Amino acid sequence: MYAKRRQRLLNRLGDGMLILPTAPHAIRNGDVHYSFRAGSDLHYLTGFDEPNSLLVAWRTGAATHRSVLFVPPRDRAREIWDGPRAGVRGAVKQFGVDEAFAIEQLWEKLGELLGAHARVFHTLARDPAFDRRLLQVCAHNAAKQRRGNPPAHPVLEDPLPAIADLRLIKDADELARMAVAARITARGHCRAMQGAAPGMIEYEVQSLVETEFRNQGSARNGYDSIVASGPNACILHYVKNDRRIRRGELLLIDAGAEWEHYTADITRTFPVGGGFSEPQKAVYAAVLKAQKAAIRSVKEGATWDAPHKTCLRVLTRELIALGVLRGRPDSLLKKGACRTWFMHGTSHWLGMDVHDAGTYQEPDGKPLRLRAGMVLTVEPGLYFDRRDTSVPKELRGIGVRIEDDVVVEKRGPRVLTDGVPKEIREIEALCVGGG
Ligand code: GLY
Ligand code: MN
Ligand code: MN
Repeated sequence: MYAKRRQRLLNRLGDGMLILPTAPHAIRNGDVHYSFRAGSDLHYLTGFDEPNSLLVAWRTGAATHRSVLFVPPRDRAREIWDGPRAGVRGAVKQFGVDEAFAIEQLWEKLGELLGAHARVFHTLARDPAFDRRLLQVCAHNAAKQRRGNPPAHPVLEDPLPAIADLRLIKDADELARMAVAARITARGHCRAMQGAAPGMIEYEVQSLVETEFRNQGSARNGYDSIVASGPNACILHYVKNDRRIRRGELLLIDAGAEWEHYTADITRTFPVGGGFSEPQKAVYAAVLKAQKAAIRSVKEGATWDAPHKTCLRVLTRELIALGVLRGRPDSLLKKGACRTWFMHGTSHWLGMDVHDAGTYQEPDGKPLRLRAGMVLTVEPGLYFDRRDTSVPKELRGIGVRIEDDVVVEKRGPRVLTDGVPKEIREIEALCVGGG
């Protein structure tokens, strides 16, 4: 599977040498690191997950290529501290590359591997020290090749857009992993609905969600969980999660479990310690209506922003019904009047990364058209700040977002995340235990 992906990528890039390092292992303080997760691109092309590693690959024909991994070598002393490594032999045996070297040999070997390649596919500016050394190797190599005077340096090209193009269309293996991530994530959200109670601190509910993720076999989250009670729901990237939840408030949870490197991205908003109040219900119903209509607009051939356009249209009307906006829907829509309370986008690509790789534009700059195998979120919301005196009093402090993950299929949208309810009745039935 990984070799096939490499071949497809290299065929797309054409002749030349790909250099792809993994993510750096970031230091938190002293000798303590942040937990490491392999760069998604390197994992996508090799399945290799160790820090301090790098892939070099080039095509030798339409169906053949060579790949070389540079990896941390076996090291008994280090492995006592950090755990086992595949090492040079393991990299070849377990990961199917043609050759592997210790990462310490990178600079000595890279010149040899570069040989007469006229193009180098490497992304600049992620690691300036690496870039400088690479340019030195290229210059030295060009001089050695004596292809002319002055020597012909290789052309540098960014491989990321080509990798992103491949990652944008998920294959069957990826979709299967995403379905598991979605199922686990839905279970976590259900657990929160059942367990959240007035008086708990947001992070206690976070722990319920994430414990369920772990219990279901997910090793980590795809992103930091947002557990936002009452007015905190209006802070879009709220991750402090340290407020005590009061009876009758809404709780907005945006959390996703990772399964084998693929993440889900679900948001649900539900009442704690009873059913929805009338104003909460009205806002929730408005967002739900927009979200369902937006999901219906996910179709092959539609533009990727069709769900967003649908949300703008539906929410403008709903805001009029809520007494927030006044005027004619068409002119309010044109003015973007709803953006005060729905200020984010509706969709993004989803996959190994929560905001996954992939362009949003066709080559002519127009919005990208959806194709089977793309996966996107649909996540409208309405957020009425506590201090917003322009909205009816009873709406202030209410924030609602509903987010599902949707696969574009030939026969229509397939919602991966329907394992957690979003209908008002179903949510109230599940939440009753928290009262
Ligand atoms: N969880 C991040 C997002 O919904 O985009
Ligand atoms: Mn999202
Ligand atoms: Mn989300």
